[in-house]
Amino acid sequence: MSDLPLTGPVAKPRRVGWRNRLLSSPKFQDWAARFPLTRGIVRREGEAMFDLVAGFCHSQILQALVSLDIPQKLLAGPMSLAALAHMAQIPPERMRILLNAGVALGLLKSGRRGYALTRRGSALAGVPGLADMIRHHDVLYRDLADPVAFFRGETETELAGFWPYVFGAGAAEDPQTAERYSLLMADSQRMVAEDTLDLVSLRGVSHWMDVGGGTGAFLAAVATRAPTPDLTLFDLPAVVPGATARFASIGATDRLRIVPGSFRDDALPTGANMISLVRVLYDHSDETVQALLTSVYAALPPGGRVIISEPMTGGARPERAGDAYFALYCLAMRTGRARSAGEIASLLAGAGFTAISAPRSRRPFVTTTIEGVKPA
Ligand SMILES: C[S@@+](CC[C@H](N)C(=O)[O-])C[C@H]1O[C@@H](n2cnc3c(N)ncnc32)[C@H](O)[C@@H]1O
Repeated sequence: MSDLPLTGPVAKPRRVGWRNRLLSSPKFQDWAARFPLTRGIVRREGEAMFDLVAGFCHSQILQALVSLDIPQKLLAGPMSLAALAHMAQIPPERMRILLNAGVALGLLKSGRRGYALTRRGSALAGVPGLADMIRHHDVLYRDLADPVAFFRGETETELAGFWPYVFGAGAAEDPQTAERYSLLMADSQRMVAEDTLDLVSLRGVSHWMDVGGGTGAFLAAVATRAPTPDLTLFDLPAVVPGATARFASIGATDRLRIVPGSFRDDALPTGANMISLVRVLYDHSDETVQALLTSVYAALPPGGRVIISEPMTGGARPERAGDAYFALYCLAMRTGRARSAGEIASLLAGAGFTAISAPRSRRPFVTTTIEGVKPA
């Protein structure tokens, strides 16, 4: 869980420089592309490089297909080019280019009866919240239009306004905004809850509190898996009302206590021996997170547990989902940051937690989970 040291031994610079010069030399590249033992590597490297170059087009093809609802339409079965072009109000010759691009990306396939979904395309249509997440990416892409300015911190990002609650309890005054972002979060919660609860033992948990729990989607998943514990939902006053109908629909109203409040200003309710923070820390600065973890520690009894679940960076081993997507997303939000498991473990230790563990994540692009215990 440790992170890259900023200083320390690195490979011998002269040898690395020689290798870099060799690999970038057109003469060497020509030779390697023909030599039987290296030509496979060269082709794979070339394809990977081209995927990076074309990544923006790939995202925009996905955005167009989702915005036109093509995956949803094809769930019922194949459709002809003419029918899809008519539905999308795109001239057939241009529509063919979009659909063939979808084929090239493995989302669609074409056959005698027209275009149909592949397995990946069907997953795209079926994963709750994924289409909405793709649709709202237009905001992120506008923020990234000048990437150098973005990384310099010179961009007034639109995404910061999309999630207004991170600036404090502002959403408390605007239930409509709260409903919009709560829906997007709740829709994408199913996979997060599945992956988190698969890794966490429910033994000994008599009362579970979810802090920053939105409209209770995660807590409803806890209720479904574990029929006994009492449940407390803590979130901003404009957000929590959405939980009432959700818990009524699963017949768990009598187990649920809803506590509206802000963890920036209010003490957390006591009584729970398990507290979860799911996709909460990455919205906030280290200072706010440290104060929040200290409040969580104070609210737990000795032996009580905390779990953090959210997408994380790879730390010493940067990886695609955490370091080349979530870290940028958090940068655009401008209030928090994506952290590695090691960084979160340090913040937990700073609040007094021990026995900190991070079981191997099933799908790190969905979430990673870390657990800590308040010493008995
Ligand atoms: C990214 S959402 C995650 C919601 C939910 N845990 C999930 O994973 O779907 C962050 C949540 O933290 C809540 N939140 C933000 N600031 C808060 C504060 N000061 N006090 C309580 N909740 C807060 C938001 O209202 C929102 O529901």
